[in-house]
Amino acid sequence: MTTAVIRTRGIIKEFASGTGPVRILHGIDLQVDAGEFVAVMGPSGSGKSTFMSILGCLDSPTSGDYFLNGESVGYREAAQLAAIRNRAIGFVFQGFNLLPRSTLADNVALPLIYAGVPVAERRARAADMLARVGLGTRLDAYPAQISGGQQQRVAIARALVNRPALVLADEPTGNLDTRTSAEIMALFESLNRDDGITILLVTHETDIAMHAKRLVRLVDGLMAYDGPVAEGLKQHLEMH
Ligand SMILES: Nc1ncnc2c1ncn2[C@@H]1O[C@H](COP(=O)(O)OP(=O)(O)O)[C@@H](O)[C@H]1O
Ligand SMILES: [Mg+2]
Repeated sequence: MTTAVIRTRGIIKEFASGTGPVRILHGIDLQVDAGEFVAVMGPSGSGKSTFMSILGCLDSPTSGDYFLNGESVGYREAAQLAAIRNRAIGFVFQGFNLLPRSTLADNVALPLIYAGVPVAERRARAADMLARVGLGTRLDAYPAQISGGQQQRVAIARALVNRPALVLADEPTGNLDTRTSAEIMALFESLNRDDGITILLVTHETDIAMHAKRLVRLVDGLMAYDGPVAEGLKQHLEMH
């Protein structure tokens, strides 16, 4: 029997507001198995980033269960969540979130410091990962010296350096032009196909979603579709 990488049951998320709690996620059930490539779509404000933050152990649900690689990870303290995240998950954001005063190699090696990896191994693994994303000759460059697409490659290398089984990406091509987006998606596809990494990727662009095999659509904090990409995109386009 294979263990699901992600299994959520009845995930509810509320945020406090001046007039009391506001419910953003209304009970989301999702199972993602090892090796899947899932696109997450839905209107702006439908709760995609909120859900991804819970899946990425950046935040806890108000109620519901979340099992990551079979282990319950809901309702932990921030430090414990950070440890789980560092060990098991690579997170890629729309804004690349690189440290401007650190070299590309140091940016990529950062998660390894938290993981307690010795300095020589950190350097070697960062160099390997940067080579994997096509930046093996730019180890000592700074983020401002490379293009946006290259910066997102560095962010992907950083997300992968701890060899996570799961990569979560929240609109990773949102700040990139069409050609650069296609290159980044080719990289995600190769990571999924060749390295078996499980990927969940939020996008509002249909041509980005087409790189995935399965589509999940959120509407108003509820799962509105979960199935093959082609059929789900048809539904998505009809709603726009
Ligand atoms: N930390 C927060 N506090 C209060 N409200 C929030 C917070 N984060 C998100 N929201 C609200 O939750 C809703 C869903 O947001 P989000 O998950 O970012 O949607 P999406 O990523 O689908 O555009 C929005 O109405 C947003 O204003
Ligand atoms: Mg969002």
